[in-house]
Amino acid sequence: MKIRLAKKSDKDVILQFCTDTFTWGDYIDRVFDIWYQEPYGELLVAEESDDKVGRNRNSADDPNGQPKTNNASTTSANNMITNTSTNVQPIALSHVILCPNKKRIWIEGIRVKQSHRRNKVATTLVDEMLQFGRRMGAIEASAIISVNNLASRFLFEKKGFNIVSRWGYYNIQLDGNKYGRINNGNQDKNPVKVRIANLEDLDNVWNYLQCSETYSLSGKRYFEAWRWYYLNYEKIVDFIKHQNMIIMEINNTIIEGVAIINYSGYWDKKEVFQIVYLDSTSTSKLQGLLFYCIDHYTFSVADDRDNDSKKKKNDDCKGKSKSNYDDFRSRRQHNSNQIQIISYQTNELLEIMNRFEIIESAQFLLYDHSL
Ligand SMILES: CC(C)(COP(=O)(O)OP(=O)(O)OC[C@H]1O[C@@H](n2cnc3c(N)ncnc32)[C@H](O)[C@@H]1OP(=O)(O)O)[C@@H](O)C(=O)NCCC(=O)NCCS
Repeated sequence: MKIRLAKKSDKDVILQFCTDTFTWGDYIDRVFDIWYQEPYGELLVAEESDDKVGRNRNSADDPNGQPKTNNASTTSANNMITNTSTNVQPIALSHVILCPNKKRIWIEGIRVKQSHRRNKVATTLVDEMLQFGRRMGAIEASAIISVNNLASRFLFEKKGFNIVSRWGYYNIQLDGNKYGRINNGNQDKNPVKVRIANLEDLDNVWNYLQCSETYSLSGKRYFEAWRWYYLNYEKIVDFIKHQNMIIMEINNTIIEGVAIINYSGYWDKKEVFQIVYLDSTSTSKLQGLLFYCIDHYTFSVADDRDNDSKKKKNDDCKGKSKSNYDDFRSRRQHNSNQIQIISYQTNELLEIMNRFEIIESAQFLLYDHSL
């Protein structure tokens, strides 16, 4: 087996074994070109002769014709020496990228062709990616794995990765009537103020997070395009500058919760509206924050569809800053009634989510490994 950088021409072969990877399919077809071009990463393939599979299956050590489960590293080494076949094909893929702060790498997209599994192919790819991180001077490697993906969890745990935090992903459908009923009930209970943060709030937001259990337990991360990054001071400045930080406050000074929103989507899915960090001191406040974000989102959707409704929407926004509302509206270009929430998993969040129509949900574990 040989590990090398992917070539554009590998794509078709790779996609053949990256289609039905999970019950819902796979996403490699949507990211292959992006990953291939990313300057701070490596898109790796493992390649091996297809003949080799037949030989492994028929070997005396493996009378049942199953892929080997032990002595696999020896097998791989032998393959490297003896593989002279011309029919060498990619049998696995993985991607690693140096995060913008250059201190961490993100590992993703490991796929091993079914017929070559349990031969330490993924292990070898992970080793290569960790080496990449060390070469780049990174101090930590991270990855996200579905709670249900035991094979992958065992793989990463065996390589020394530790669980940092558990995250919930919810794709919810906004049904106007149902949402209205939930929201009305919520407003009465929450006479606190929710608004978009500005730079004057910076220190208050930072101080809130330093005392926040959610921030600490989540591993101080937020979600962006299926990677989890550190939510540090600089990033908070950035979110505030882009008006993506929402705060809940009492008496105009004490912060009781923060949410971070994202309008720009990810990959080819640009129409999606996301809440990428959610943190509050109680269930009702968490709900208040969430509904504030959804309110602005749904107003915007309505505006896209029906210009005549603008005045009514502005009237409905009494008590909320008009300029903030206009900003939300002008930035909104989505056509779907779906909203994605990706947040550190708490019982409070689960309780709130149960009230919505959930199209898709999943639980993920964030893993870290010191380099
Ligand atoms: C998960 C996956 C990448 C593992 O690839 P692989 O090349 O078979 O893994 P390795 O042979 O290197 O296995 C290393 C260790 O991981 C664990 N592991 C791998 N597959 C496993 C399985 N099916 N069941 C239980 N443990 C498993 C074992 O601890 C294994 O060590 P062992 O064989 O000595 O017991 C592969 O099954 C795959 O492509 N799955 C579908 C895509 C996927 O889930 N990708 C990861 C997304 S985060």
